[in-house]
Amino acid sequence: MASASATLLKSSPALDKSEWVKGQSLRHALATTVRCHPAAASALTVKASYADELIKTAKTVASPGRGILAMDESNATCGKRLASIGLENTEANRQAYRTLLVTAPGLGQYVSGAILFEETLYQSTVDGRKMVDVLVEQNIVPGIKVDKGLVPLAGSNNESWCQGLDGLASRSAAYYQQGARFAKWRTVVSIPNGPSALAVKEAAWGLARYAAISQDNGLVPIVEPEILLDGEHRIDRTFEVAQKVWAEVFFYLAENNVMFEGILLKPSMVTPGAECKDKATPQQVAEYTLKLLHRRIPPAVPGIMFLSGGQSEVEATLNLNAMNQSPNPWHVSFSYARALQNTCLKTWGGRPENMKAAQDTLLVRAKANSLAQLGKYTGEGESDEAKKGMFVKGYVY
Ligand code: 13P
Repeated sequence: MASASATLLKSSPALDKSEWVKGQSLRHALATTVRCHPAAASALTVKASYADELIKTAKTVASPGRGILAMDESNATCGKRLASIGLENTEANRQAYRTLLVTAPGLGQYVSGAILFEETLYQSTVDGRKMVDVLVEQNIVPGIKVDKGLVPLAGSNNESWCQGLDGLASRSAAYYQQGARFAKWRTVVSIPNGPSALAVKEAAWGLARYAAISQDNGLVPIVEPEILLDGEHRIDRTFEVAQKVWAEVFFYLAENNVMFEGILLKPSMVTPGAECKDKATPQQVAEYTLKLLHRRIPPAVPGIMFLSGGQSEVEATLNLNAMNQSPNPWHVSFSYARALQNTCLKTWGGRPENMKAAQDTLLVRAKANSLAQLGKYTGEGESDEAKKGMFVKGYVY
């Protein structure tokens, strides 16, 4: 399986420079045709040049027993992480930490993709190798966070919208050239603040525009409308909101001619609000979440890569495992940041002598989630640290 993915990666036209140039000339040829024949001037015609590659990339990321390492914290968020272990938010410290993550030996057995922040996409490891090259050697597809973060949504109930569409096409083309093959855009929906119809529509429309632009530039879009854990609501309310959000997201994805075979989703699991008194078992979370997916997500979508959203490391793994107890139409897996990195970061503590131990803890979590993707995680032997929740009220990523 790992070697089949390796073949996919290595044979991917995108990862070979000369093929990339070929891809560009094909696009150019198509664009020329479009100019000559205005009737054929549809975005779909241009996008066709990347269609096969997008499908291949999405399938590689959604390969059995593997998921995504989200390591795309913005500099501000990464600073908070580093502060928690007493380190300053300098480029050198961010580089040291990201070097630790991408060089963990054998990570590619469990991790198929890594989402990077722009700085990391263009950065080298501490010993001078391009982060992107290290990932590809590990059989991990590099991805890039392309959204520009959340700002207040005027006219709403104190909700937010996600910026980043201006200049996205040219940025995406540059990211592709730098080696990225998938993208991520995270917007949020708040249950305690509504969500208002306006906020849901804006979130869905922004995701759909981003997805179309990403595909047009060879990047598989990860579509992430995070329904925040904040609130006292029960699980049924989350289910109701999630149904509304995903209905709207797919409506606009279709309206924007996004090819469903070449996208990945990054939903929140359907859970009660973090401050709800009634907690849900992994079986309940799995039942609600799968019901949502069955009702809303076409089987053409290759992969559902969940975010962890403040759940503890173990909770996120148990919930994923519960969802994989019987076959699903899509690859159901992880795209965790906090639920993969928390113990690793603490174990490292910024000390070079702890690097190996920290990499080992990352591999423990990656392996646990790989097993959960296959429905074979038992939860035995987990540390107390891994059981600690990480929910932060009003969390900003
Ligand atoms: P968490 O798993 O920490 O919620 O991160 C999700 C995310 O969007 C990172 O890319």
